Amino acid sequence: MGWFFSTSKKEFDSIDFSILKTDMHSHLLPNLDDGSSSIEDSIILVNQLNKLGFDNLITTPHIMSDYYKNTPDTINKALDKLKSEISEINIKVSAAAEYYVDYEFKQDIKKKKFLTFGENFILVEFSFISKPIKLKEIIFDLQVNGYTVVLAHPERYSYLSVRDLLLLKERGVLMQINLLSIIGYYSESVKNKLKRIIDHNLVSFVGTDCHNIHQANLLHKCFTDPYWHKLVNSGKLLNCQL
Ligand SMILES: [Fe+2]
Repeated sequence: MGWFFSTSKKEFDSIDFSILKTDMHSHLLPNLDDGSSSIEDSIILVNQLNKLGFDNLITTPHIMSDYYKNTPDTINKALDKLKSEISEINIKVSAAAEYYVDYEFKQDIKKKKFLTFGENFILVEFSFISKPIKLKEIIFDLQVNGYTVVLAHPERYSYLSVRDLLLLKERGVLMQINLLSIIGYYSESVKNKLKRIIDHNLVSFVGTDCHNIHQANLLHKCFTDPYWHKLVNSGKLLNCQL
């Protein structure tokens, strides 16, 4: 009993994101998706993330056949514009993408060269409602084409259990959790699922998935959270290798 009370009251030191160096999931480029809606906001977001400790931002606009028809060309043009506006900030900014897995995406695997980061990592997201059809086939197709699949925010798909995620990991899929899930930003159930994911040592990357200034202003709340500390101490995070 004494142990329970002492740990429940334990205060954690503050660890900022400089320990990660790199954020590899965000929506900082203006007017490409549901992220930043102006170059002014994009500049503020880069500054904020820099203040939180990041010195390398790999931003990842949505590519989604129905809603966000971004291409390497639209993304790189927006990236060049942002880079020209932030030359005074001591930070590296580059771009990949967050690909929505659907029928069109599957068709594109053999036809297109996807935007990736690091060692040909491709960031993918699923529908929040139902599991993608032929998921095993899609993962396999990506892997035989040289990609390593990184699943964005697995804690947010209510239809995927921790066991499902363990099976995906066995297939070579790496997991990227959202920092805001740690503080319960999306929901209490997402937060609880995330804790079980962390307890199973399933996390390879963490990302801000930052879309706006409101989210950027909440991120510092992670710094003293025990599960953030547990992630840092897991020795499994690959962000600083990017
Ligand atoms: Fe995202």
